[in-house]
Amino acid sequence: MLRIGMLTSGGDCQALNATMRGVFKSVMLNAKEPVEFYGFEDGYKGLIYGHFRLLDYNDFVGILTRGGTILGTSRVPFKTIRVPDENGLDKVAAMKQTYYKLQLNCLVVLGGNGSTKTANLLSEEGLNVVTLPKTIDNDLWGTDMTFGFQSAVDIVTRAIDEIHTTANSHGRVFIIEIMGHKTGWLTLNAGLAGGADIILIPEIPYDIKKIVHIIESKDTNGGRFMILAVAEGAISKADAKLTKKEYQKKLGSYIFPSVSYELADQIEKKTGREVRVTVPGHTQRGGTPCAYDRVFSSRLGAEAGRLILKGEYGYMVGYHNREIVKVPLKDVAGKLKTVDPDSAIIREAKMLGVSFGD
Ligand code: F6P
Repeated sequence: MLRIGMLTSGGDCQALNATMRGVFKSVMLNAKEPVEFYGFEDGYKGLIYGHFRLLDYNDFVGILTRGGTILGTSRVPFKTIRVPDENGLDKVAAMKQTYYKLQLNCLVVLGGNGSTKTANLLSEEGLNVVTLPKTIDNDLWGTDMTFGFQSAVDIVTRAIDEIHTTANSHGRVFIIEIMGHKTGWLTLNAGLAGGADIILIPEIPYDIKKIVHIIESKDTNGGRFMILAVAEGAISKADAKLTKKEYQKKLGSYIFPSVSYELADQIEKKTGREVRVTVPGHTQRGGTPCAYDRVFSSRLGAEAGRLILKGEYGYMVGYHNREIVKVPLKDVAGKLKTVDPDSAIIREAKMLGVSFGD
């Protein structure tokens, strides 16, 4: 008997179900012994508090195209994982206890950065763990791509497409604020796909004077309108010089909901142009996975199943140079994959007239 536990952790994304379906099918169709799949509810919480259910074929019917996660998810921050809960429960010990009580052969974790750190910790604690790289942010180290990312790129691209017509009608400057946490992958890709004039990402601090100059020179879109794709983590050159503490202090006394609104205010004051901010927000994580993600996550799931059937644990299933690869969890945990400001895609975007405000 092979007993497998599975959970989805952290912010959701479009292809979680498709990935779980891939793992389930590949194990079930290729195992040489009976298999039991346990689904933990709401991420690591389910493992900590023993909230689980047995999964069967019916759970996986029709979910290739369904967004969200059939298991539910939650954020259990890695930085407090060693801190007992409000009732004094040792979370790590509790997770191990659930694992051993169910006599699991392995735990499958679909998660992003924080979740992978916890998975690595559990692996170091002796559990058999396999992870799959989930996040619309695409910021997981050790994989060229995460599932959910391409679906989010499509959604943001459509949002930018739709802004074009109204921006043109009114001759306005538009800022579209895009998720991505501390990295600019989503903004960069959707910004390029949507034909943004200016793309601001955390990895390339911007100079407001440069942005104002571009808007005033009116040399794009016939000078009528301007589209800025701005990462939620975008930062000005001036702010980038602050220490972490100083920057936190600034954010603490911030009168703007986010960097985009501060930017809009500055642009309006300095150029006299009408500026509007659009925030697609959590629509970026919602809806059905795009075709790319369906294929990608199915492949990741199938390879995770292969590792499980071979008894190879302690890996994240990732993607490198167009191949599905296994990457040791200890190499992935705690590392962020950021956009390299000197990379080819940035150089090419600049050659096409896109400004990064630097
Ligand atoms: O990590 C995915 C993500 O959507 C980030 O892009 C964003 O910063 C964050 O999660 C939002 O988190 P929450 O859903 O908890 O508001």
